Amino acid sequence: MSDSPENPATPPALIVFQRVVLSEFRNFSRAVFEPTARLNVISGDNGQGKTSLLEALYFVATTKSFRTERMPTLIRHGASEAWVRAELLEASHAREQVATLSPGARRGLLDGKRPKRLVDYAQRTPIVAFHPGDLELVAGASSVRRRLLDRVALFVDAGGYDRKSRYERALKERQRALEERGERAPDLDAYELLAAEEGARYQLARVRAAEALIELIGPQFARLAPAGLRLEVRYVQGGSTLVQDFQRELLARRSKDRLRRAPSYGPGKDDLELTLGQSLARSHASQGQQRILTLALKLAELGCISRARGFPAVLLLDDVSSELDPSRTGAVYEVLRTSASQVFVTTTRPELFPTPDAQGSERQDFTIESGTLRPSR
Ligand SMILES: Nc1ncnc2c1ncn2[C@@H]1O[C@H](COP(=O)(O)OP(=O)(O)O)[C@@H](O)[C@H]1O
Ligand SMILES: [Mg+2]
Repeated sequence: MSDSPENPATPPALIVFQRVVLSEFRNFSRAVFEPTARLNVISGDNGQGKTSLLEALYFVATTKSFRTERMPTLIRHGASEAWVRAELLEASHAREQVATLSPGARRGLLDGKRPKRLVDYAQRTPIVAFHPGDLELVAGASSVRRRLLDRVALFVDAGGYDRKSRYERALKERQRALEERGERAPDLDAYELLAAEEGARYQLARVRAAEALIELIGPQFARLAPAGLRLEVRYVQGGSTLVQDFQRELLARRSKDRLRRAPSYGPGKDDLELTLGQSLARSHASQGQQRILTLALKLAELGCISRARGFPAVLLLDDVSSELDPSRTGAVYEVLRTSASQVFVTTTRPELFPTPDAQGSERQDFTIESGTLRPSR
């Protein structure tokens, strides 16, 4: 687990970024980052490159961004290609990952070799990012919570998650056949069987992800929330894990799905229902409660991924101080300080993170100014 109490005998986290080089990434033309294995506090004014630095770590781990799907925006203005290279230590074994981005393509290299699929690349370095946009997890559309379930599914049931793209393709073909040729189109049976086979297996990965998350969310929430605030999390399953049931539902919903021009069944309708006290968090929680709940969800995600991978995943927290009121920041800092994960936090207000008694390698501070990164203290 990721939250063993810290003491001098605690071994270093088992997966750590040791050295990271950024090239033409956002506002960094070239930067070298050598973090500590534990807590890294990165401060700087707005617009200096704090989020971009975390984004670079996330990018080299996953070939994706946590703040946008428009990947070309990561390439520095005027440059044609961005790359990030990371030297990592995994269970005292050194390895390297390089992720490269050009306007048309993403590539990842693991120790100089190209993995078969980008999914294989994205699983190597488990990483969880928390950023201000994550408040959507509580307040936003169900699609945001499905993405959370998918990130966990990738680690707790990779084989099931892997069926997602085939499922979605089959479902799309079915939908197109329905809309263009009606409910009696002869190829519908074949599409529905395929969608049911792939979908039921993918649904099982979602169920497993939801179970793992629900087990961990309660304790994480309790660490952050004021005493007495009750949280309930319920997984609303959109489809079935049984092929026959899945197929029967698709058949029964042909007419409905044709009219609404979208499928009404399957993992695409999953949700996590979050209840605080007596009411739905989405509509009734205060801003502060939503923030704590979001962070608890992210810590549960971190715990699930760490557990599935067998060692603590890397944690990125962007602008965490602006997301929490001061009374909660202390609780958050305590969670970070005692986490077994390598942690990166950015802030415009480093004074909110008190210097710990422990000296030396437990914490390293950095400052960023206009894309230039420096260790401080
Ligand atoms: N592709 C890009 N090329 C050059 N600069 C960029 C690019 N994308 C964003 N920027 C700039 O990088 C700076 C740092 O952004 P960001 O990392 O979000 O800052 P911070 O998190 O410190 O507030 C901003 O001034 C932004 O305008
Ligand atoms: Mg920022």
